[in-house]
Amino acid sequence: MFRKIKPEEWQDNPISLIGQDWALLTAVKPDGTSNPMTVSWGGVGVLWHKPVCTVYIRPQRYTHEFSEVGNRISLCFFPSEKKEVLNYCGRVSGREADKVKECGLTPVSEKGHVYYEEARVVLLCRKIYVDGIKPEGFLEAEPRDHYYPAKDYHTVYVCEIEEVLTKDKK
Ligand SMILES: Cc1cc2nc3c(=O)[nH]c(=O)nc-3n(C[C@H](O)[C@H](O)[C@H](O)COP(=O)(O)O)c2cc1C
Repeated sequence: MFRKIKPEEWQDNPISLIGQDWALLTAVKPDGTSNPMTVSWGGVGVLWHKPVCTVYIRPQRYTHEFSEVGNRISLCFFPSEKKEVLNYCGRVSGREADKVKECGLTPVSEKGHVYYEEARVVLLCRKIYVDGIKPEGFLEAEPRDHYYPAKDYHTVYVCEIEEVLTKDKK
């Protein structure tokens, strides 16, 4: 069972959690349909005195269609034995497969968000600011040239963390 904690009580290291363990981002359209994809770039912190997470989605992702029109985004962190779910959802597009079904995930719909029963920690987030990575913004050429040869600059979403759910013991 998940229990709700305050964002300040969350104990994980976000650098290793997002960068190495990865997360499953799920964006929901206003009609309630949703699509998950794996992310390993992102941040959590504070902006405008709010707990926020920032995520980066390339325009060609199917999830982008959902994140553009909807304002609910969840980030699910899984136990290590579920890494294959993240491998699959980072390799396959929701345009080609029902990833939730293929992975045997149990979706939970709550307050307009979608997350999965199998997660260990869930951030329920609401989009509050959107912008794009811009080529003229780079102060160093390397990341621009390395990560954007196709000029498919990420859309950046700053999201308020509305709830943190965890299965970790107190
Ligand atoms: C470890 C890992 C991390 C990823 N991180 C991101 C990311 O932060 N942003 C992004 O746009 N795509 C990222 N991707 C790629 C998407 O997860 C992948 O293209 C996925 O199939 C998109 O699914 P969709 O078309 O259903 O949205 C990542 C893939 C992997 C394997």
